[in-house]
Amino acid sequence: MPSLVNMEVELAVKGFLIDQEKMAEVVERMTKELKMGLAKDTHPRAVIKCFVTYVQDLPTGKERGKYLALDLGGTNFRVLLVNLVGQSDIQITSKSYDFPSTLMTGTGKALFDFLAECLAEFCKENGLENDNLPLGFTFSFPLQQQGLSKGILVAWTKGFNCEGVVGKNVVQLLQDAIERRGDLKINTVAVLNDTVGTLMSCAFNHPNCRIGLIVGTGSNACYVEKTVNAECFEGYQTSPKPSMVINCEWGAFGDNGVLEFVRTAYDKVVDKVTPNPGKQTFEKCISGMYMGELVRLVVVEMIGKGVMFVGDSSQKIQQRWSFKSSYISDIESDGPGEYRSCNKVLHELGIIGSQEADKEALRFICEAVSSRSAKMCACGLVTIINKMNINEVVIGIDGSVYRYHPKYHDMLHFHMRKLLKPGVKFELVVSEDGSGRGAALVAATAGQSKPKM
Ligand code: GLC
Repeated sequence: MPSLVNMEVELAVKGFLIDQEKMAEVVERMTKELKMGLAKDTHPRAVIKCFVTYVQDLPTGKERGKYLALDLGGTNFRVLLVNLVGQSDIQITSKSYDFPSTLMTGTGKALFDFLAECLAEFCKENGLENDNLPLGFTFSFPLQQQGLSKGILVAWTKGFNCEGVVGKNVVQLLQDAIERRGDLKINTVAVLNDTVGTLMSCAFNHPNCRIGLIVGTGSNACYVEKTVNAECFEGYQTSPKPSMVINCEWGAFGDNGVLEFVRTAYDKVVDKVTPNPGKQTFEKCISGMYMGELVRLVVVEMIGKGVMFVGDSSQKIQQRWSFKSSYISDIESDGPGEYRSCNKVLHELGIIGSQEADKEALRFICEAVSSRSAKMCACGLVTIINKMNINEVVIGIDGSVYRYHPKYHDMLHFHMRKLLKPGVKFELVVSEDGSGRGAALVAATAGQSKPKM
């Protein structure tokens, strides 16, 4: 325990410090919920939905051809052209588009028109408008899929709330928007979750990859299940293919109250100020969209109590969402007794001239929030690995929190090791560009459309 950290601060973050026993309890409860999502009779009332993705083939490494991909659901919107030339030669041309935040809560029509406009611009810039390339649409929200290229939006998450999309097939909405323009020939062959893209992208180079994980703006995982267990898939007993990728949508774990024993008062405040209160309970304990706000709430409470930043506080830190989650990664990147990145963050927040003890306390709060995130994530992965009943697995991971937090990988590994049965081997691997490469690979394994070579 750092000596400079005030007792008040220690007390405030206590709720984030989950012990081994509680973690084991999270795993137990999550196992139950996961099974409910998979089974046909309990699926309708399950909170972890375990959606069938219709992805039944992992890449062989031999997929080739040119594909388009759209990526919606992270921090920015991207259009990509992916050319699978060889197993170690994948050429990607991509462009990120500024996503006006008004679109996140506008009409569905405005959203899809924007996607089609960016796609058209991209195709024109790259001379692809008449190529009729197959497109993989990475749409990272809960979808009830009815086929590889048909997915009904169940709910918006991560701050999106566009009118007229829930209950609709998002592929159709995209295709309609493309047709309204009339200047493009595009064939959307697959819609997929970012976790699935991450799994596919990693599996292209790591044949043992069976789980895809995202710890970014949101958090979620998918895994390879036996088709016979994917009861919500109409052909689960007769399918000639042994596997089915399941999109867990684990973010919703706890929406029925089973996580109350690990939630803090700060979690409840964050939940209330989101556009989806009462939803995505697990995700709100883990992902980048919420971690910064959790830290900010603790800090503001400490400022109010007069134990941190006395005389140095700022207006900015009082504003909701002003503490970006990337600040946590920055602050924790400083070595012991070093405050270079921390000073930068404080400067951005307009807090100037603070004491070393305040900086120590701030780091302590960040560590509490990020380590709780890694612990919860470890619980989720262990739940899945136990459910799969395998002894060796590679997990493909993407997302800003995992990528940029200096200790996330190590924390995740450490807690998984402690929770898993001895002898179970696992590897955590960064997955490169799941939303692009992964989308192309799903489109390729779709086999619905002959790729252009
Ligand atoms: C949210 C979405 C989920 C996605 C995750 C990571 O939880 O509901 O579909 O995979 O964020 O982006």
